[in-house]
Amino acid sequence: MAVERTLSIVKPDAVAGNHIGDIYNRFETAGLQIIAARMLHLSQDQAEGFYAVHRERPFFGDLVKFMTSGPVMVQVLEGEDAIRKNREIMGATNPAEAAAGTIRHDLAETLDANAVHGSDAPETAREEIAFFFGDDELHSRG
Ligand code: TYD
Repeated sequence: MAVERTLSIVKPDAVAGNHIGDIYNRFETAGLQIIAARMLHLSQDQAEGFYAVHRERPFFGDLVKFMTSGPVMVQVLEGEDAIRKNREIMGATNPAEAAAGTIRHDLAETLDANAVHGSDAPETAREEIAFFFGDDELHSRG
C-alpha cells in the first residue's frame, strides 16, 4: 500500500465544539501522521476557491458562509492509504448516514456542518495541499 498525503480540515463547528484534540487523536491512532497544521479563519475568497468544484451546486452559498463562520484547523495527514483511511475515519458526508465510531457520527449534527473535510482522490489531495501549504512546510518524517 502506497504512502499518501491528504488534506484535512477541522471545520468551524468542530473547532467551536472543542473537538480538535479528539479528532487529531483519531488520526494518530489510525496511523496517520500530522506533517503540517495551521489554524486560520478562511476569507470568502479562500472558501469559494477551495470549494470551486461545488460552485454550481445549490448549497454552495451556505457552504461558503459556514466555512467562513469561524476558525478552522487545516492539516496534512501522511500515511499508508491516507486518502481512503481519512475518509473512513470521517464517515459519510451526512452525519445521519455515518457509521458509528466515525467523526461525523460522533461529533457532527447536520449535513452542512459536518465537522471535517478530507480530500477524495490523489489529484485533489495534491491540489488541496498546495492550496494551503508550500513544500517547505510539509514535515514528513519518512
Ligand atoms: P462533498 O464534497 O460532496 O462531501 P465530502 O465533504 O464528504 O467530500 O460536499 C462538500 C461539503 O458540502 C460537505 O462536506 C457538506 C456540504 N454539502 C451540503 O451542505 N449539502 C449537500 O447536499 C452536499 C452534498 C454537501
